[in-house]
Amino acid sequence: MIEIKNLCKQFEDRQVLKDISAVFENGKTNLIIGQSGSGKTVLMKNLVGLLDPTSGEVLYDGRDFVAMSKKEKIMLRREMGMIFQSAALFDSLTVLENVMFPLDMFSNMNLKERIKRARTCLDRVNLSEAESKYPGEISGGMQKRVAIARAIALNPKYLFCDEPNSGLDPKTSLVIDDLLRGITQEFNITTIINTHDMNSVMGIGDNILYIYEGRKEWQGHSKDIMDSDNQKLTDFIFASDLLKKMRKAVTGKQ
Ligand SMILES: Nc1ncnc2c1ncn2[C@@H]1O[C@H](COP(=O)(O)OP(=O)(O)O)[C@@H](O)[C@H]1O
Ligand SMILES: [Mg+2]
Repeated sequence: MIEIKNLCKQFEDRQVLKDISAVFENGKTNLIIGQSGSGKTVLMKNLVGLLDPTSGEVLYDGRDFVAMSKKEKIMLRREMGMIFQSAALFDSLTVLENVMFPLDMFSNMNLKERIKRARTCLDRVNLSEAESKYPGEISGGMQKRVAIARAIALNPKYLFCDEPNSGLDPKTSLVIDDLLRGITQEFNITTIINTHDMNSVMGIGDNILYIYEGRKEWQGHSKDIMDSDNQKLTDFIFASDLLKKMRKAVTGKQ
């Protein structure tokens, strides 16, 4: 479980995150949703320590991350897996070598054990056959699956994904979503996913945090979205007129 308390982030005179408090639960796909520019990536960077909050707390199962020494933060980072938009695969390494990379860096395993572990992770994302290929030789969806395999190689307790479906078609996005949720439940990971993909919101939104201009606007389960009276959330979710009409037909609400 990750808890944030009164989190604020300011860049010079610009306040991007405004007093956000929320809980992200283990075994669940916790989604952070909101329009482009609302602060999702900045929030995630504050969670993993790529940015430091201006004020507030980030608690990893009760451990105060912000207050930790650099050494303690590095130790805690080993419990985190990350799939960031920009964190691409290493083009000059094979798929298997990419998944082995965190093991080479951070584990005490010998070569045989590292290969075995990497193969287990590739098998989990159904990519065993592609282990000798290079990233340039496989599809975007497969590359995302390699990134997931790499992110789980060290058995993380916490998994962070920034827009994992960006650039993927809807069908491939579903595969990625199912995989992320499956892994989350199987290994009881606290998974946090930034997204503005409505299929993901409705499909794997176990616990959704909606932020609007850096403020927490709503938090709840996807099944409660339809009934929400929060106008900003409704406008965001039902951005198209067609969806608004469908919602009105189902719930009678505007
Ligand atoms: N390093 C930075 N310095 C100043 N402003 C930033 C910085 N990083 C992000 N921002 C601003 O913070 C806001 C939120 O950005 P971001 O978290 O990337 O939005 P999202 O991921 O929801 O699309 C944007 O207005 C962006 O310009
Ligand atoms: Mg972003």
